[in-house]
Amino acid sequence: MAQALYRKWRSQTFDQVVGQEHVTQTLRNALRDGRVAHAYLFSGPRGTGKTSTARILAKALNCTGPEGERPCDVCPTCVAISEGRMLDLIEIDAASNNSVDDIRELRDKVGFRPSEGSYKIYIIDEVHMLSNSAFNALLKTLEEPPPHARFILATTEPHKIPATVHSRCQRFDFRRIPVAEIAAHLRYIATEENVQAEDAALTAIARSAQGCMRDAISLLDQMTSYGSEAISVAQVNQVLGSVASESVSAFVDALAQQNIPAGLQLIHDLLLAGASLQEFTTQVIEHLRGVMLLQMTGDSGLLDDRSPETVGQMKAQADRLTQPQTLFAVKRFGESVGELKGGHQPQLPLELALVEIVSGPAIAIGQPQSAPPEATVSQVAAQPVAAKSSTDQASAAKPSAHTLSTVQPDKADSTAAAEQTDDKAPPAPLDQDAVVKLRGQWSEVLATVRERLGLKQQAALRAMRDIAIGESAIALAFGNNKFAKDMISDPETAIQVSTILAQFVGRQVTLECQEGEHATLPAAVGRVVRDTRKNDGPDPLLEFAVSELGAEVKDEKKAKRRAS
Ligand SMILES: Nc1ncnc2c1ncn2[C@@H]1O[C@H](COP(=O)(O)OP(=O)(O)O)[C@@H](O)[C@H]1O
Ligand SMILES: [Mg+2]
Ligand SMILES: [Zn+2]
Repeated sequence: MAQALYRKWRSQTFDQVVGQEHVTQTLRNALRDGRVAHAYLFSGPRGTGKTSTARILAKALNCTGPEGERPCDVCPTCVAISEGRMLDLIEIDAASNNSVDDIRELRDKVGFRPSEGSYKIYIIDEVHMLSNSAFNALLKTLEEPPPHARFILATTEPHKIPATVHSRCQRFDFRRIPVAEIAAHLRYIATEENVQAEDAALTAIARSAQGCMRDAISLLDQMTSYGSEAISVAQVNQVLGSVASESVSAFVDALAQQNIPAGLQLIHDLLLAGASLQEFTTQVIEHLRGVMLLQMTGDSGLLDDRSPETVGQMKAQADRLTQPQTLFAVKRFGESVGELKGGHQPQLPLELALVEIVSGPAIAIGQPQSAPPEATVSQVAAQPVAAKSSTDQASAAKPSAHTLSTVQPDKADSTAAAEQTDDKAPPAPLDQDAVVKLRGQWSEVLATVRERLGLKQQAALRAMRDIAIGESAIALAFGNNKFAKDMISDPETAIQVSTILAQFVGRQVTLECQEGEHATLPAAVGRVVRDTRKNDGPDPLLEFAVSELGAEVKDEKKAKRRAS
């Protein structure tokens, strides 16, 4: 098998170390001035150039080329180090078991003069893995180093190095390498290797490497084995399970426009296309982070690894969303990433996050709350509508209307009674006791619904904002979450849900699903469940279920409405 690209393209001179100029320039100056320290500590993430730089320093110290050009990379010593056969360069991997013996041996032999060059150089990789006794042995050596010995300790976890050892070293922090610099280096390697690749493909690889050059080169290596054609961004996305940035932006657009059906459609399409929803959600979060940066700084300078088109889209979204909305979306999607682990309906956590971000978090009875409802996308747009909505007019007109405010879900339980004495709180429900009791059992209601109907119905019911209970009817308000309301008010679902609710309330009830913040009982209490979608035109959820999930419509009236 051919040598791995990342080994083949190990940096051999200071110039070839990308993105760590603060280290390489300081080392060059020290070499020029003859002030090379006895011991260095190289810290930083893996694959950022610590080992490479340590070897380059070892070369420079022993190089026989012209002063000022060291390492020359052509003299016998430089070549020997590049080829890994220089006796005076001793590399110890502290992660392997025999490292204590290695350190003892080091101590025993460090006094001997170098055999070929002028310096004996010890590189101790993953030095934080040394045992206490090994550290102690090392410390003795560092305290009285022979003049011809130099030490380079490398670690990804500098905080694990004892202070006594730390203080004997000059420390350099290797940083994650910026996307643009990784992409440029990949371009260089691709050209040298005669590999064709789209710019966008290299940028996608670079971004996925998160600052680690080794990972980026390895991924490029993997991509070259895909065939003779140019590496495309589509190929890279496929390998990474990631998604074209247009889809990510379109999804955030749907969010900003409160267009739940469009968002759900996108999720569905991605799933069909075999994309990893976990990866997609991560990309959405990264995109929203860009939107957030724009909102907070108004400056696109921090987004220089993004294409101008993407930045333009982010700007439009930054105008449409408020900062708290963006923040809540980042947080809520963040929560859903961990939940996207396959299962029966792998997309559900993402769908739920979308619905909750747009329509407000589900009522918090017995459940932790992610964020206050005012952070939801719908809030700003929804308020004027809510004020005019028929349900609100009804409750304003009728002093005896029967609702209980649930605007603050996180204190719904404990302050339910207190809120009623509040001037602004809507009037008490007809059966106030039943409401309080039902709220107290809401998590059990949800569990029962999940068991008998399924996860989607449970999820929809979690969007419930308000309950009103009368003699023989229960009204549930779903805020402006039409999606949830429609799902529960589907005739069959409504009957099953009302049967469950009846068990909790202790009497036969019919169910009324409403939009708006406050649930109000229908004038004719006890009439049959109303199909609230009569004049709404096509039902988006139904459309979605039929066209995308292959559902069959059993209710003919609805089927006709769809056909017309
Ligand atoms: N800063 C960098 N510039 C160029 N290539 C790098 C850089 N960092 C890492 N690499 C690539 O990754 C490989 C591993 O790097 P290495 O120096 O062993 O990283 P570390 O010791 O920090 O884990 C190198 O062979 C090289 O191909
Ligand atoms: Mg290393
Ligand atoms: Zn040399």
